[in-house]
Amino acid sequence: MDDLRQKYLDAIAAAADEAALEELRVTAVGKKGEISLKMRELGKMTPEERQVMGPRLNALKDEINSALSARKAALADAALNERLRAEWLDVTLPGRPRPRGTIHPVSQVTEEITAIFADMGFAVAEGPQIESDWFNFDALNIPPEHPARQEHDTFFMARADGDDRPPHVLRTHTSPVQIRAMQAQGAPIRVIAPGRVYRCDYDQTHTPMFHQVEGLAIDRDISMANLKWVLEEFCRAFFEVDGVELRFRASHFPFTEPSAEVDIRCSWTGGTLKIGEGDDWMEILGSGMVHPKVLAAGGIDPEEWQGFAFGMGIDRLAMLKYGIPDLRAFFDSDLRWLRHYGFSALDRPTLHGGLSG
Ligand code: PHE
Repeated sequence: MDDLRQKYLDAIAAAADEAALEELRVTAVGKKGEISLKMRELGKMTPEERQVMGPRLNALKDEINSALSARKAALADAALNERLRAEWLDVTLPGRPRPRGTIHPVSQVTEEITAIFADMGFAVAEGPQIESDWFNFDALNIPPEHPARQEHDTFFMARADGDDRPPHVLRTHTSPVQIRAMQAQGAPIRVIAPGRVYRCDYDQTHTPMFHQVEGLAIDRDISMANLKWVLEEFCRAFFEVDGVELRFRASHFPFTEPSAEVDIRCSWTGGTLKIGEGDDWMEILGSGMVHPKVLAAGGIDPEEWQGFAFGMGIDRLAMLKYGIPDLRAFFDSDLRWLRHYGFSALDRPTLHGGLSG
């Protein structure tokens, strides 16, 4: 009996899987198993023998059954542990590196300008960078013989040989978007049009491609006073100084009458520029009341409607606000420059959250 017990306990302990255990169960305690057969023999025994052997065989059967289920549980545990080890997955995120990209000062300033004018009810309008000379010049009251055409240092697009229509141009200002907005929307209008413009010029404050933002407001009762208020309000918000002082200087643009250039009070001390104080004036934009001929070219009746327009250089505003000395570096794509002057991608300018963070 002891041999039998030891044989099965050893075999159970050594069983490698469930199938082996099942086989052992059948051979030991199954219907025709070794121990079951032994129990059948009880009938042939004397009552005295049976009294001794009966309980012993029962106890052996119980012991083997519980050894089988203990081994079965141990095998299942081992299998689960093995599966957990094999399927292990790190669900924690790696540490986030600091974002490396930055927002270019031109994009930043464009968004600041857009946020300020949006607050005053101006929508954003757009036009093509390759423009017909009619939109860029004629519609803006600059006929072919007008001297202003020469002042624009225009890039012309080549026409095919034999095509003698006037060439398209790279737009020299955002003012053609005035005409496109008038044609598309009719009056009244309140839009700004930021975008790229092109002039053949290159030095510390000029690049052949630069950025302007146009403003246009047309309604039945618009005057120079509205223009002044809007521009003063804009400069106060943009430069984030309360004491901004503007000077409206009489000027001339073919597409506005009367026209004014606007200067901002500033100081240059120790090579640094301060806005809102000092005895210097810096020109920041051109503006005026939209010329009746321009309204007519845009399909708007100048007897019924009038409006103001302005145009300013975005890059120049960025240089002034953020103290960037050389315009050419804006377009060099030098990563060191971009990291130095760039803005956080996660911190977008809004009027309520702060313009420049
Ligand atoms: N288009 C002019 C320029 O590029 C600026 C301007 C726009 C002036 C609108 C008056 C009105 O210099």
